[in-house]
Amino acid sequence: MTRPPDAASGTEWWRTAVIYQVYPRSFADGDGDGVGDLAGLLRRLPYIASLGVDGIWLTPFQPSPQVDQGYDVSDYCGVDPLFGTLAQFDDLLATAHTLGLRVILDVVPNHCSSEHPFFRTAVAAAPGSPERAMFHIEDGPGGALEGDPPNNWRSVFGGSAWSRIAPDSETDRQWYLHLFSPGQPDWNWRNPAVGEYFEGVLRFWFDRGVDGLRIDVAHALFKAEGLPDADRPEDVVDGLRSNPQVSDQEEVHAVYRRWRRLADSYSPARVLVGEVNLAPHRAARYTRPDEMHQAFAFTFATVGWDPAAWARIGTELDTARREHGAPPTWALENHDLVRTVTRFDDGGGRGVVRARAGLLALLGLPGGAYIYQGQEVDLPEVDVPAEARADPMWTRSGVSRDGARVPLPWTIAPAGSFGFSPTDDAVPWLPIPPGWGSMSVEARERDAASTLHLVRAALDLRRSLHEEGVLSPHDGGMWRAEDNGLLVCERSELFLVAVAMGDAPVRLPEGRIILASSALTTEGLLPPDAAAWVCRA
Ligand code: NOJ
Repeated sequence: MTRPPDAASGTEWWRTAVIYQVYPRSFADGDGDGVGDLAGLLRRLPYIASLGVDGIWLTPFQPSPQVDQGYDVSDYCGVDPLFGTLAQFDDLLATAHTLGLRVILDVVPNHCSSEHPFFRTAVAAAPGSPERAMFHIEDGPGGALEGDPPNNWRSVFGGSAWSRIAPDSETDRQWYLHLFSPGQPDWNWRNPAVGEYFEGVLRFWFDRGVDGLRIDVAHALFKAEGLPDADRPEDVVDGLRSNPQVSDQEEVHAVYRRWRRLADSYSPARVLVGEVNLAPHRAARYTRPDEMHQAFAFTFATVGWDPAAWARIGTELDTARREHGAPPTWALENHDLVRTVTRFDDGGGRGVVRARAGLLALLGLPGGAYIYQGQEVDLPEVDVPAEARADPMWTRSGVSRDGARVPLPWTIAPAGSFGFSPTDDAVPWLPIPPGWGSMSVEARERDAASTLHLVRAALDLRRSLHEEGVLSPHDGGMWRAEDNGLLVCERSELFLVAVAMGDAPVRLPEGRIILASSALTTEGLLPPDAAAWVCRA
């Protein structure tokens, strides 16, 4: 099988890689059912390669009832017919490799679907059976027949994290744990059989040739022994106030050490990237040299347009890098977060120009970076009509992530599907707003000043700078926020990234400005809401 060549960073390509996140159901529809799929993605792979990224991360396409858009997996080693077939996946993988793109898949080891055969078997089995021991299935505190759940944990999606295993049964009154929706029972990682099962899953995809895996909710596989009450039940597991009872248990690191050995046993070695939604100093422990390669910098992913916050988080991440060796993995957007065009807009209509500056800054920072599909064409968050919302979080807690998941517009016309589906009459699974033709890939291709072209230029330059040694995979990040609103991240004495986050144009530190997200003023100053790369080589 053809393999992409290793980047300037040698075999540790992931240290500097820029990965494009594909949310398959919203990327491109190949069969006209209004849902994106592998056939659509295959057809559009050359577009992704044309950006100059090093690879793609594909969110789940495995068989699933789609309660949480595929994060409820009922078969870890297959392809949901909604998205295609395993043969199509193999074709996609081979084509991606031919185009020089690596492929990272999502693995979801914290929970599965309530339709997974093991969970169905557990439901049918007796309390106390080995089948039930694969999950957290417990009696309530007052004994099996009492009414309260085993502890006070809340689901990330709202409501209790416990549901009755057999709601209609008079005799079986046990509960099962689901940190997310009731359709997503948590595996019991204290049972070694669960670990063995997942090693088989990893081998299955590694043997097929995938280059890496993104580990969903990587910090929560183990819960505190005995499942004690949470200190702050309303915070559960996600976010920086994550409860010490629910996640980040020491035992989980042994899992990633085993997985790293497995990943390293392949040639070329496979890569692990963790969704570790913890503060930098805790998250970095998951990227110690014998654990995962990358962990998304979550604090950064939710930051607003605030130079002091960027500098503080950047410094925290750099401190963690120095302590544990792995560079930060930057992302400003993904399918769970509000799009930056909207998030960075404080009502002044500056969202697009800021999001563009944020993206250019991201691509200049030391470490790996992830671009979420649509970020390169400035897609904003959409206020999806309530009746069209599909996110389980919406029904359980009134928060909807659908606005960042609207299908990508490919062509200027026709309104409706904007080239997302092969036929004009197809109805996209989430409605695409009527004005989105102007933000389509086609429209952005035609506009030489678009963010799409800026991303291409940035990635091209980034590659050359690595080849020339101006950028190094081992660069650090010295961050500062100046009084005039200028944010600076100095990677080394040769290169820095600057973002003008204040209200007035600012003078840049000394050096050659090699790329900027907006034109400089006639006095050579960086205008507000613009980013620049400055080279001193
Ligand atoms: C993180 C995923 O990104 C999100 O979409 C999902 O709902 C949760 N994990 C649960 O799997």
